[in-house]
Amino acid sequence: MIVMGIESSCDETGVGIVRYTGDASGTGTCEMLADEVASSVDEHARFGGVVPEIASRAHLEAIVPTMRRALTQAGIRRPDAVAVTIGPGLAGALLVGVAAAKAYAAAWNVPFYAVNHLGGHVAVDTLEHGPMPECVALLVSGGHTHLLEVSSLAEPIVELGSTVDDAAGEAFDKVARLLGLGYPGGPVLDALAAEGDPRAVAFPRGMTGPRDSRYDFSFSGLKTAVARHVESAQRAGRPIVVADVAASFQEAVADVLTMKALRAVTDRGIGTLVLGGGATANSRIRSLAEERCAAAGVTLRVPTPRRCTDNGVMIATLGAHIAASGAEPSPLTAATDPGLPV
Ligand code: KG4
Ligand code: ZN
Repeated sequence: MIVMGIESSCDETGVGIVRYTGDASGTGTCEMLADEVASSVDEHARFGGVVPEIASRAHLEAIVPTMRRALTQAGIRRPDAVAVTIGPGLAGALLVGVAAAKAYAAAWNVPFYAVNHLGGHVAVDTLEHGPMPECVALLVSGGHTHLLEVSSLAEPIVELGSTVDDAAGEAFDKVARLLGLGYPGGPVLDALAAEGDPRAVAFPRGMTGPRDSRYDFSFSGLKTAVARHVESAQRAGRPIVVADVAASFQEAVADVLTMKALRAVTDRGIGTLVLGGGATANSRIRSLAEERCAAAGVTLRVPTPRRCTDNGVMIATLGAHIAASGAEPSPLTAATDPGLPV
């Protein structure tokens, strides 16, 4: 079975095509046949964040050419099924991908599967590391920060926790902006932090008190603490070592994310942690996850950075597992859901 996946929830227009082989238990494997992504990230840079209207328009221009390129790359005329991100994401952006997916599924007369973007971030890992065992997944990007429990890709995913304010990647972008590092600031801040001392400033670890939720996150207090630190130094005419601030901030984010992920794995007696989302490209989040998983005897699975950011292959992979499990296709009347829960 060959499945096309379409992703348009944020600023990436992604179209991926996979071939699924395996039985109906939904534990088969996918081979990637095409992976095309058109990004509008550069158009948002001068605004310091994703502008929904610009993203929608960019999707509209990119969607059909990106689908055509993916079909050419895969060497096929049509897939056996079409899967698309139905939510969560930006309302106008989602509409473009969903309209295209419905139109092509109807024209090709193939089944249509509306899938959850977050599940796609977990599913994509199977392309590199094989069938997904029961796992805890930590998704961190500019738009989401979620701790999930996954028993199988064909079954509903359980949300253990999420951010109560900013997403982790968003915190990286906001702090990078505050430090004058441009947008998106995550990668620049990461590089700068390598030259700084992570113990230079003791920034707060949000929601880690004994009365706080075990699995939820909060990053807005940390962002404010960085702003206060910079302002008070400026008022006092004291120079700040930007690399030290970057490294200390990054350490606080990585510490809380990996601490809560390991807590979830341990509490639930699960042997595997999967990372996903664009911010898992962060060197400290990765290294601390590796250290802590090794110490706890937990297997860590992290897709390559290109698979961690939004793409169509992740949606194709999840759609293929759902289709293979015998689930009913979605009706062509399925509506986008910007706030879709897991
Ligand atoms: O998944 P993604 O491409 O898009 C969504 O937000 O859905 O993630 C992009 C986010 C941005 O906030 C970016 O700053 C952050 O991931 N990011 C990083 C790094 N690379 C990307 N954050 C910290 N360190 C990095 N190396
Ligand atoms: Zn995403």
